[in-house]
Amino acid sequence: MSGASPDQLIWVPKASAIAREAGARLREFFSQGVETEYKGDVDLVTVADRTVEKLIRTRLGEAFPEHGVYGEEGTRERMEGEFRWYVDPLDGTTNFAHGFPQFCVSLGLEQRRVQTLEETGSGRVGPQDGTIVAGVIYDPMRDELYTAERGRGARLNGKPIHTSPIAFLAESLVSTGFPSRKRHDSPNIHFYHEFTLRSHGVRRAGSAALDLAYVASGRLEAFWEFNLNPWDTAAGILLVQEAGGQVTDFAGGAFQLNSREVLASNGLIHEELVGLFKDMFAGRNLSPIPTPQEFAQQRAERAAAE
Ligand code: IPD
Ligand code: CA
Ligand code: CA
Repeated sequence: MSGASPDQLIWVPKASAIAREAGARLREFFSQGVETEYKGDVDLVTVADRTVEKLIRTRLGEAFPEHGVYGEEGTRERMEGEFRWYVDPLDGTTNFAHGFPQFCVSLGLEQRRVQTLEETGSGRVGPQDGTIVAGVIYDPMRDELYTAERGRGARLNGKPIHTSPIAFLAESLVSTGFPSRKRHDSPNIHFYHEFTLRSHGVRRAGSAALDLAYVASGRLEAFWEFNLNPWDTAAGILLVQEAGGQVTDFAGGAFQLNSREVLASNGLIHEELVGLFKDMFAGRNLSPIPTPQEFAQQRAERAAAE
């Protein structure tokens, strides 16, 4: 993290303008109301998702002609390039389709690792995960623009943001999400239950990108989900890291863009979260959930130790 001034940022200024324009289109569609189609099971899509992805693809092509674009609604352009934008034109489609005002535009830029001639024999970009170097998330209903570039801090509407200082899961507000495909296969309801009883609460607000932005801005202490795609996470994970938080897989290992699972936190409760995941996956007896009296006693002990 650093306090680099906004005019030193390389990609964020143009990407922010694109996200704002895309968000304005989403706002128009939202106020008109749109018809919903099914991609499968309860996986919804609307004309807004498709139109806004097209708009973003065009604008990114104009602003960054060398960069690749990989969008949820099917865009695959310049996939061989060193840089690649992961685009979710509308994260929170189910909310959007129901008139529930929690959704956003998410743009994350990956710098892909160029393999050496010795490694490939051809000098082409290899399949390894690259590094996320920029992220922009725009919530058009609240006019909130979250931005980050690697090594240059995270901002909300231009002001630096930081993850929360809370150090215990028992005092945390956390969030998660559930897949809209293969819903029956998801084990997450068990985690939802367990975390609900061990924290101030678990929110399921319906936009993974905003959940990550909320961890970055200290509104939430943590977020996890089992089955995400790079367009959901690319921008948000950089925001969390640049705001001082931590992002890993459920075992505490390095987060990979294509590994689908994500565990993001303010860093301070990360070890506790990883421990709980470990015990739950192992089917071990978990430590008992505290009674209200024990909760009060533990709170008092923590306060005394400060
Ligand atoms: C969904 C949202 C939701 C999450 C789902 C995602 P979409 O993205 O981020 O919060 O729980 O897993 O698929 O389909 O609205 O872009
Ligand atoms: Ca999404
Ligand atoms: Ca989407």
